Amino acid sequence: NAGVFTLDPGFTSTASCESHITYIDGDEGVLLYRGYPIDQLAENSSFIEVCYLLLHGELPDAAQLESFEKTITHHTMLHDQFDQFFRGFRRDAHPMAVMVGTVGALSAFYHDSTDINDPKARTIASHRMIAKMPTIAARAYKYSVGQPFVSPRNDLDFAANFLRMCFAVPAEDYEVNPVMARAMDRIFILHADHEQNASTSTVRLAGSSGANPFACIASGIASLWGPAHGGANEAALNMLEEIGSVDRIPEYIAKAKDKNDPFRLMGFGHRVYKNYDPRAKVMRTTCHEVLKEVGETDDPLLAVALELEKIALEDPYFVEKKLYPNIDFYSGITLRAMGFPTSMFTVLFALARTVGWIAQWTEMLEDPTQKIGRPRQLFAGATERDYVAIDKR
Ligand code: SDX
Repeated sequence: NAGVFTLDPGFTSTASCESHITYIDGDEGVLLYRGYPIDQLAENSSFIEVCYLLLHGELPDAAQLESFEKTITHHTMLHDQFDQFFRGFRRDAHPMAVMVGTVGALSAFYHDSTDINDPKARTIASHRMIAKMPTIAARAYKYSVGQPFVSPRNDLDFAANFLRMCFAVPAEDYEVNPVMARAMDRIFILHADHEQNASTSTVRLAGSSGANPFACIASGIASLWGPAHGGANEAALNMLEEIGSVDRIPEYIAKAKDKNDPFRLMGFGHRVYKNYDPRAKVMRTTCHEVLKEVGETDDPLLAVALELEKIALEDPYFVEKKLYPNIDFYSGITLRAMGFPTSMFTVLFALARTVGWIAQWTEMLEDPTQKIGRPRQLFAGATERDYVAIDKR
């Protein structure tokens, strides 16, 4: 006899919030960072410039960009003791488990930037997070493949530095491929922010309690890990590998349509986009560029992806449900061609999304009306009743 209590008429959802950072029109397939269309930024900007834009609300002039880039570059190193954290994990730990654990531990090292009420401390923490995520992510990868850590270099830009920390080995010189560096930078831009998605909402909720920025970002990483969210890029590539060939696609399309089958086409659909994800269009172009650079234009997975996309865009079921490819559909193929294992795909997403989480966290803390988040519920449990002694149950 569970009773359902009527909600207080004054109840308003605390789930929505006001933001000036990112705008999405899901029906039109529009994504704007501080008013600038994502495709224009991907084509003309750099990730470090987009970081400045998301944090400050305006594109930097040359002097502002140089100063910001220099600050970020000079925060890329990690405390020497920090490296011990990586070695505490089993070698086969998922890199996202390493990210959640090590990023949360940053608050044990950088006490001078954990006072969230001090704007200067917040700024230092923000710069540290953006700057150190590539170094942490690269170490998670190196540890997983049993290679020595590679330190950041100050003469490389953000994306090139990251690629070198991942793929350079002491035994030989490493030259960053400019096509790969540009693709990496563009992928970071595409993943930088996306308004109030699950992981960003997690960071905001954690931050609303006054938790330190490193713990808040660690909570965002944990939320992003889910296959319905940031883990979809890894799941999408695993799905393409499972399908394996174009002739097996109909079998999987049928599974996706079967309401009794929990299977979903990874890399398709979105809570907000009911049109083509504008990021997926840029991701598709980048995918072709990278495959051309590595000479894998006949990658069988690309053939499966292109045919799957074609079928899904024409199939009445997907058209009626407005299921389009999302950013995760092509990112997996691209990242694999760049040399990353599938276990690193969501790590790269977290690396890029850190600036979005930080920008949204800062916006929330700078709001004078800000209160601790406290979602309410529609109670549908048992109504009040008296305790029953065990011999009477
Ligand atoms: C990201 O929120 C963000 O901004 C996230 C993100 C970001 O940048 O932060 O954009 C990143 O997370 C992109 C999404 C990555 N996830 C995947 O690709 C996983 C596969 N997609 C699905 O799990 C799903 O599409 C979701 C979770 C993304 C959305 O699920 P919803 O909210 O149920 O989708 P919907 O309401 O639009 O679904 C409408 C219908 C439903 O069927 P009915 O209940 O109406 O019968 O379409 C079905 C769904 O069952 N459906 C799918 C499907 N996605 C939705 N059917 C088959 N395959 C799919 N992929």
